[in-house]
Amino acid sequence: MAYGIIEHELAKPSVFKDESRLLPDYVPLNLVHREQQLRSLARIFRVLVESPGTSSPKAILLGPVGVGKTAVSKRFGSTLSELAKRRGITLRYVHVNCHKDRSLFLVVKRIAQSFIPNIPERGYSAQELFDFVLRYLEDRSEYLLLTLDEVDFLINVSGEDPLYFFTRVADESLNAVHRLSLMVISRDLNFLSKLSESTRSSLLHNLIKFEKYTAQQLFNILSERAREALRSGAIDDDTLMLIADIAGRRGDARYALELLWRAGKYADAEFSAVIHPEHVRKALSEVVPGVPREVLTSLPLHEQLTLLAVARILKRSKAAYSTMGEVEREYRAICEQAGEEPRKHTKFWEYIQNLKNAGILIARLSGQGIRGKTTLIGLGEISIEAIERVLVKEEKILG
Ligand SMILES: Nc1ncnc2c1ncn2[C@@H]1O[C@H](COP(=O)(O)OP(=O)(O)OP(=O)(O)O)[C@@H](O)[C@H]1O
Ligand SMILES: [Mg+2]
Repeated sequence: MAYGIIEHELAKPSVFKDESRLLPDYVPLNLVHREQQLRSLARIFRVLVESPGTSSPKAILLGPVGVGKTAVSKRFGSTLSELAKRRGITLRYVHVNCHKDRSLFLVVKRIAQSFIPNIPERGYSAQELFDFVLRYLEDRSEYLLLTLDEVDFLINVSGEDPLYFFTRVADESLNAVHRLSLMVISRDLNFLSKLSESTRSSLLHNLIKFEKYTAQQLFNILSERAREALRSGAIDDDTLMLIADIAGRRGDARYALELLWRAGKYADAEFSAVIHPEHVRKALSEVVPGVPREVLTSLPLHEQLTLLAVARILKRSKAAYSTMGEVEREYRAICEQAGEEPRKHTKFWEYIQNLKNAGILIARLSGQGIRGKTTLIGLGEISIEAIERVLVKEEKILG
């Protein structure tokens, strides 16, 4: 019976040719509208294929959610290492997501494991393990291009040390051969304020900015990805433009691609060979909350705690807005529950601003009401239920 059911399901038509090409982890070969950033990276890192070892270039990739920072760095890293290989140079590209590996040791371990087979890691410090990596490169005359993606997490958790560690290794070898080069990715420059002056200036030389995509740019991106992922004729230009227009308000390609993918799922569920605008609208209203899951999960921990504080207060009060003071008190209580040291007021204020800028919170000055002049905080396009589900049940930020 199972055979029959499965066979029957498989025989149904699907709008997808290769669904995986719409998923967030897939790095497309072609990154339209990011030519300028790729060109800048090539200029900065060309020394790695022309005279490797003579210097350690560093760059910061900066821009809001879903603008291609991760995709561009991965595509650039693997392409450069390919080009180096053709010239007889072994350039290892390692991409570490600091949201996942949140300490210097975990980052170093990830690097070591990515190209050194059977590396013993027990009983070593980060320094010893990295010395091992450097010796490995030295012995084989190889080079390493390292990307620290979502670097804020590394700094928020453990202070500036990790970045100091890598920039120092990169810069230190004055007479020796430079083995390590660095790309650092972040949504904003706040993390720099936590670094020492020398680390900061060492990093700030090359700043590559990623702007939000316009609706037209998103349309071009969607068209290209749809060609790879969907059967021909599965969607027309108007429907793609609708998605682009909706996502254009955020300028976020991840959101646009997720909408396309979910709309495709709706089409499949209705056995429609074509994705219609109504499938897009359904995907929009039913599945994708205003703030996609990934946006929540990739927030720094204390912004997550702040957001949870807002959610909890509004849940209790059933009100549209709460005040800054109320939220800060709740934030402190939640920090305690999470076993985290609450940050100072100025930091807390920064979290609110960041969450507001990310479109998750609404913050505005109160009118002349009972509360006097104060900042009122409400939720943007996301429900309390979604916040609690993602942060508490799934991400377990309260432990
Ligand atoms: N120019 C582009 N062409 C094709 N796909 C793109 C382009 N830019 C981004 N994408 C796709 O959009 C999604 C989001 O991009 P990416 O993960 O690189 O964003 P990001 O800037 O790293 O965002 P975040 O700060 O949230 O990590 C990915 O699936 C990526 O492949
Ligand atoms: Mg990213």
